[in-house]
Amino acid sequence: MERYGTYGKLNSNEFPGDFLLGTATASYQIEGAWNLSGKGENIWDRYTHTHPELILDRSTGDVACDSYHKYEEDVALMKKMGVQFYRFSLSWSRILPTGFAYQINPDGIRYYNDLINLLLKNDIIPLVTLFHWDTPQPLEDLGGFTNALMVEWFEDYARVVFENFGDRVKLWLTFNEPKQTCHEGVGGDNKAPGYESSGIGDYLCAHNLIKAHARAYHLYDKEFRPKQNGSISITIDTSWMEPGTNSTADKEAAERKIAFNFGWYADPIFHPNGDYPEVMRKLVPERSKKEGFRRSRLPEFTKEEVKYIRGTFDFLGLNHYTTLLVKDIPEIPISGKPSVDKDSRTESWHDPSWPPSSAGWLKVVPWGFTKLLVWLKHRYGDVPIYVTENGFSDLGEIDDQGRVNYYKLYLSAMLDAMYEHKVNVKAYAAWSLVDNFEWRDGYVNRFGLHHVDMNDPGRKRTPKASAEYYRKVIAARKIHG
Ligand code: NOJ
Repeated sequence: MERYGTYGKLNSNEFPGDFLLGTATASYQIEGAWNLSGKGENIWDRYTHTHPELILDRSTGDVACDSYHKYEEDVALMKKMGVQFYRFSLSWSRILPTGFAYQINPDGIRYYNDLINLLLKNDIIPLVTLFHWDTPQPLEDLGGFTNALMVEWFEDYARVVFENFGDRVKLWLTFNEPKQTCHEGVGGDNKAPGYESSGIGDYLCAHNLIKAHARAYHLYDKEFRPKQNGSISITIDTSWMEPGTNSTADKEAAERKIAFNFGWYADPIFHPNGDYPEVMRKLVPERSKKEGFRRSRLPEFTKEEVKYIRGTFDFLGLNHYTTLLVKDIPEIPISGKPSVDKDSRTESWHDPSWPPSSAGWLKVVPWGFTKLLVWLKHRYGDVPIYVTENGFSDLGEIDDQGRVNYYKLYLSAMLDAMYEHKVNVKAYAAWSLVDNFEWRDGYVNRFGLHHVDMNDPGRKRTPKASAEYYRKVIAARKIHG
């Protein structure tokens, strides 16, 4: 407790002058127009079309919020709230229908140009994510991120993106939440493509994805930054991992869990030594050996690769929603599928007293946010942190007091970290601008500041109480304004 501070001190409820308040979305979750204007198929099109039973309400992102046609309305909603930046993602297969850079779709380029230009005209800074989980299907057919050539295909895509939009976009994220792509989508079937290669494919995917990130960073740094002068990083998600008890074993388990959950992606990029966390490089080979593998399931970076990847960031992108309690599992039987949790020898759960949201995984634990931010500073130093997602799920109420409450508590938990513990947080994006396709949860669990009527062909948007709350916060630049 002492080491990471407490929550609720609120020395100040004001945002520093240069702090940016914004909101966020992602292409597959809002755009729709899945097969219009030259867009190619991606893995979420395929997953929802071929496995409707995996989506809670059997829905798809075929139309979603129809933001492909209604982006002007989206920008108007943001203007009303007064947000300073908008984080959105590019659909790789809208820009490159096959995923390969030999064929550029002019309508895709035009769409994003129109959006970017309109944002700038309204004084809203674009923060652009290159990849938010929607791998082009033809690349997935070749193994997606388990194919080492993905590093090159991603670099080619990044070049097209920087060439076309980099004169106006100055804030970039390569990947959003790589864990969901690799651990959930390749390791399991909770996300597309659903390979279920836990403990092997997920490590391989992450290995290539981290290299792809570094490749895009260096490309930007060498060839584009001199003229375009922007910043680029990656955004990684984690819950705060709180020891289940005060025992040393559980404290160490919580550290292991965050190493396997966040450090897996963050250490190679942000840690001064680079490479995967030491505890992963110890436990995975050990366990692999016990299981009879001839080599570790965790691939190794060469010394040159460690150097090439280390430091490939201008800020740290963080997505955060909730907290888990963690306990040590001393011995795990070898039988059953290898999984990352088995590798970290931990078990995690929620305290039943924590206030719920409509999503089982999301409980309201604001002090966990403070602790996580302080932990990040301890582990990675005084890096500028951009909170690129934070938000609350309900069933779509317009008078969404649960969400208002969540934002109040989490924003103040963040300010505590900034004022009480001098954590260098620079920006915050509320997830999400609008209710949208919440992956496996379809349109059931909703995160929007604006309600979207999914039964209305015009996808009518209605501001919720939280949109008005956020507008006031931004106008006053204070939480309790
Ligand atoms: C993280 C993801 O980046 C986003 O796509 C998702 O909708 C939110 N979390 C809420 O689950």
